[in-house]
Amino acid sequence: MSRRVEDNSFPTHRAESLMRRAIGLTEGTLPHPNPRVGAIVVNPDGEIISERAHLRPGMPHAEAAALADAGSAAEGCTVVCTLEPCSHHGRTPPCVDAIIAAGVARVIVGTLDPDPRVSGSGLEALRAAGIDVIVGVEEAAVRANDPAYFHHRTTGRPFVTWKIALTLDGQSAAADGTARWITGPEAREDGHRLRAESDAILVGAGTVISDDPRLDVRLDGYDGPHPRPIIVAGTRPIPETAVLMSRDPLILTGDQPQGHLTGIEQVSMGGAEGVDLEAAMEYLGDLGYASVLIEGGPTLGAAALSGGIVDRVVLYYGAKFGGGTGLPAINGAFRTISEARPASIEAITPMGRDFKVEASIEGAF
Ligand SMILES: NC(=O)c1ccc[n+]([C@@H]2O[C@H](COP(=O)([O-])OP(=O)(O)OC[C@H]3O[C@@H](n4cnc5c(N)ncnc54)[C@H](OP(=O)(O)O)[C@@H]3O)[C@@H](O)[C@H]2O)c1
Repeated sequence: MSRRVEDNSFPTHRAESLMRRAIGLTEGTLPHPNPRVGAIVVNPDGEIISERAHLRPGMPHAEAAALADAGSAAEGCTVVCTLEPCSHHGRTPPCVDAIIAAGVARVIVGTLDPDPRVSGSGLEALRAAGIDVIVGVEEAAVRANDPAYFHHRTTGRPFVTWKIALTLDGQSAAADGTARWITGPEAREDGHRLRAESDAILVGAGTVISDDPRLDVRLDGYDGPHPRPIIVAGTRPIPETAVLMSRDPLILTGDQPQGHLTGIEQVSMGGAEGVDLEAAMEYLGDLGYASVLIEGGPTLGAAALSGGIVDRVVLYYGAKFGGGTGLPAINGAFRTISEARPASIEAITPMGRDFKVEASIEGAF
């Protein structure tokens, strides 16, 4: 529920519709590790005079860019922005300074920034400068627009998506280990969009050995960053000829280093049972990775689900039947029907001949 805007000169429904528009401005932006932010400058007659989003890290913040576009016309205006404006010096100067300098009369904010460097201090600075501040407009929609940022800044761990492609009868590969391609071009392109939104991709040794994947973003015209490949290694040697070796991979190991891989970053993260995935997520969160995509096979998937590190499940169902003894989606034990875990289906989207299911698993796996 959005907070009511008490000031009658700025009607609640108008504030909410501007906030939804500001959220819409962030579509297609890839600003991580920064948040997705949209900002609109509205004059006292209620007309939009400028609007911008924060596009990429290092590029101008949405509020500062929108104010720069508005120029001197920003004086006395209202700024509508999805997130509390920043008050600290990063790669760009604080947005609160730009707002105060522009003579803005009112700022309407979607939600507080959970980043401890900001969290409330941006709004305090605006209020101290005599600017009318309204917070909490379309807050749930703002948070839902950038779950990875809010999750990471609140928990210190990345938002984890487990993604897998399956035949209609739920198989992730054929008996000989081949899995290319279960789905058609539309679903695969959507998978590349998931990669583009991710800071890192986690893959198990089994998938590296069997598929030798590239795990980069292959979308027409894409010029954004590529997620860092992270290999969860076990007892088998990871081939030094693997394509990922040229993509600055991070190798997480149990108690056995991959001694043959020289010059490749390795971190021991667990013991004889393999990599401790919970500890791995803490570590990746500390490195600043806000969103991690798991693209491993059914062994890593099972470990991630039973380790409770998965926040979102994305299943791509290809319009094919495997029919037999291929690999399952999850290499777990499923002894009796009462062990089946309830899930919430959040969306089902047709993709060419295939379809995508977004879901969350209820309770412990
Ligand atoms: N349909 C799809 O979307 C899709 C996606 C990816 C892969 N695949 C298919 O999946 C197959 C490979 O499956 P997989 O299960 O062998 O690969 P995997 O899940 O990617 O890798 C599992 C391996 O990772 C290592 N490991 C270390 N710590 C671990 C931990 N805590 N939890 C789990 N694993 C850990 C182990 O290596 P050691 O055995 O060396 O100890 C383990 O066997 C291939 O046929 C591939 O084509 C399908």
